[in-house]
Amino acid sequence: MTNDKLIVFDTTLRDGEQSPGASMTKDEKVRIAKALEKLRVDVIEAGFPIASNGDFEAVQAVAKIIKDSTVCGLARALDKDIDRAGEAITGANSGRIHTFIATSPIHMEMKLHKSQAQVLEQAVRAVKRARQYTDNVEFSPEDAGRSETDFLCRIIEAVIAAGAGTINIPDTVGYTLPDRFGKLIAELRERIPNSDKAIFSVHCHNDLGLAVANSLAAVMNGARQVECTINGLGERAGNAALEEVVMAVRTRNDIFSCHTDLDTTQIMNCSRLVSNITGFPVQPNKAIVGANAFAHEAGIHQDGVLKHRETYEIMKAEDVGWYANRMVLGKHSGRNAFRERLKALSIELESEETLNAAFARFKEIADKKHEIYDDDLQALVSDTLSTEHERVKLVALKVCSETGETPHANVTLNIDGMENTAAAKGSGPVDATFRAIECLVDSETNLLVYSVNNVTNGTDAQGEVGVRLEKNGQIVNGQGADTDIVIASAKAYLNALNKIKTPIERKHPQAARQV
Ligand code: KIV
Ligand code: ZN
Repeated sequence: MTNDKLIVFDTTLRDGEQSPGASMTKDEKVRIAKALEKLRVDVIEAGFPIASNGDFEAVQAVAKIIKDSTVCGLARALDKDIDRAGEAITGANSGRIHTFIATSPIHMEMKLHKSQAQVLEQAVRAVKRARQYTDNVEFSPEDAGRSETDFLCRIIEAVIAAGAGTINIPDTVGYTLPDRFGKLIAELRERIPNSDKAIFSVHCHNDLGLAVANSLAAVMNGARQVECTINGLGERAGNAALEEVVMAVRTRNDIFSCHTDLDTTQIMNCSRLVSNITGFPVQPNKAIVGANAFAHEAGIHQDGVLKHRETYEIMKAEDVGWYANRMVLGKHSGRNAFRERLKALSIELESEETLNAAFARFKEIADKKHEIYDDDLQALVSDTLSTEHERVKLVALKVCSETGETPHANVTLNIDGMENTAAAKGSGPVDATFRAIECLVDSETNLLVYSVNNVTNGTDAQGEVGVRLEKNGQIVNGQGADTDIVIASAKAYLNALNKIKTPIERKHPQAARQV
């Protein structure tokens, strides 16, 4: 049996960011990119440079910093998109342009208003233009899962001839089934005369919960690149989860004739970081990275695992990084130990000032909580970084909650350098706090989601609060962490408000017409 390399293309920073409310700042993207490099993913799709100046700068920053992974920018099959992507990846050690155009009848007719001939011509032109910036060009026929196979064969043959080295087959709307998708990949590889000149890739969405199954079926049929995201983040129901694809290929190496080069012990670190930054919690029963993924509740299972682990476990928890980073810091730990631990977690704080602020926050938490775990560190660093440049900051919060009395809160905020205080009552302490904040900011937002998770175990654990707000169709997430969950709630609310106060003008790659 052959043992080819399976290229892992991570699109957490691009498709993952398309999840409503998951948008990331440049610094957050750089933090995640560094963790992905440590995980040894082959390609990092860092964003869609034409979408906004912020997206462009983020791709450029990732391209400059990342040395071991290829950095990719997405572009519609348009000159201006390709030029912007080409510019964004110019500083990369290894850069790629990923260009796409829809090929399904419904997309061509209803969205693009273009014929097959026009789409084919535009695709070829786009690939040729991208080749002027880099030899590493990927082409995707968007909505391939619902495209006519004959047309796919023609357009793919033409773009390979034009210089595309990777052909990505997206199941954009998560419509295909594993057996059919696998056969599609086999058929394309067989029928397209120059198919051996390109690597076939797949990009599956999870609308029917089949993204990983479809990706693996494609790998069985010769795909040698899988596009995926950490925790399965992504547009609508998400993309294929990187951790699931990678561990399936590794665990069932008796079946797959390929391997990845990933350091799987970094999976948990990436999963926690992405969840922490985006505020999208990982469900407890999520494969590989969920809190229960390696927990054995039933007595018979526990007994079996104790006698012989493999009775009920097909993977080792350590292999995906569970427990690997459980080093504990405490209130006597010094700055050096703190800095070293952050380094081990791929967290490099840019300035001494930020390090000092994070260290001060660490000492504050260590006073309240005996043991500080890596999860606490991730949460406190996110907290420090996210509040650094905020216009609205929490100065003080006092809450009274008593049996038989209506809870009330007093909040002092610093808004653009000016301090103001307001008081409000509410049905609970968090409600009173949010109402008091609203007295000061009058944001006219709708609260869509409010969630509390414990960062670690025990009643002294930090609570991590997630808040999702909506205003005029813009959705933002905010996070806050503290051992006091009302304070964490106020921080999360403000974190979200700060994001909505500066609306981002962004293009969505698949929504805009390609003219
Ligand atoms: O889902 C999709 O089709 C995409 C393309 C841009 C590859 O994300
Ligand atoms: Zn996608």
